[in-house]
Amino acid sequence: MEPGTDPLTVAILGSGAMARYWAFSLETMHPWVVGQVPPPYHIVEMDGTEHRLTPLHFDWCDKPPRTPDVVLLLIKWRRMPEAARWISAHAPQSLVISLMNGMGQDEALSTVPAIGLAQGLTTAAATRREPVVYIRSHGQTLVPQLGDPRERRLQKASRTYGWDWCWVNLKTMADLRWQKLLQNSVINPLTALADCTNGEILERTIWQLARPLLNEGTQAARAVGAEVPQDMLGRVTRLARETRDNLSSMVQDVRAGLPTEIDAINGYIIRTALSHGITVPTHQALVRLIHSLTGG
Ligand code: PAF
Repeated sequence: MEPGTDPLTVAILGSGAMARYWAFSLETMHPWVVGQVPPPYHIVEMDGTEHRLTPLHFDWCDKPPRTPDVVLLLIKWRRMPEAARWISAHAPQSLVISLMNGMGQDEALSTVPAIGLAQGLTTAAATRREPVVYIRSHGQTLVPQLGDPRERRLQKASRTYGWDWCWVNLKTMADLRWQKLLQNSVINPLTALADCTNGEILERTIWQLARPLLNEGTQAARAVGAEVPQDMLGRVTRLARETRDNLSSMVQDVRAGLPTEIDAINGYIIRTALSHGITVPTHQALVRLIHSLTGG
């Protein structure tokens, strides 16, 4: 085999709903799963088809047999210290692709020297009701083009295996990540407070907060040069509809009594806004309310 044409080794960091969703979606590449929950993973597709996966699994403290080419970061924010240690120890030269909610992955991983980090996004949705993960929407997955040779091999693999990943330039990616952050800053805390699905939130009185949240968040995004379209309310409404049967990741965390990602989502918007002298009272109120729900 020519060098560089051998199969790519992909390590998925995380073993929650989204990590198992990607272990299923990329199954033909035999990705490893690194995280607390060992397989088998039981996945139910939108048409009800059931699958049981048994990917090669490592606990955070296990030593993998070799260095993976690509690391897919699909952890919860609270696992960032374990992920940073794992990447430093076992994948310092690998291409790390984050498909996590929220912003600030680059700062959180700044302890990993010379990390090759691509911050992408996905609107795929999955609900975890142990031991089953129900796929609710395949959404859209976007990854920035860094011009890295490992990335070109991944692009080739994505064509070979028919994934619908889009590779976009860095500026477009930065804009779209801000837009996804704004969508998460509305859907996630509002569904967590109302304890309902993404579809149900559209009918609740609390949905009236969507507009002030988007107005405040858009000012923060524009202050750092991100392009945000006028119809964000329409976009977030569409995303809630497309993922209507899903319980947002924040509802799932609150129900499980786990810390949420509020500080990486609304908290990130607040930090950005305040550093530019912009007031964001609705985001601040929501962060306090979510913290009071989870005791954090
Ligand atoms: O965090 C989530 O749950 C997801 O990002 C999304 C797309 C809002 C679907 O629930």
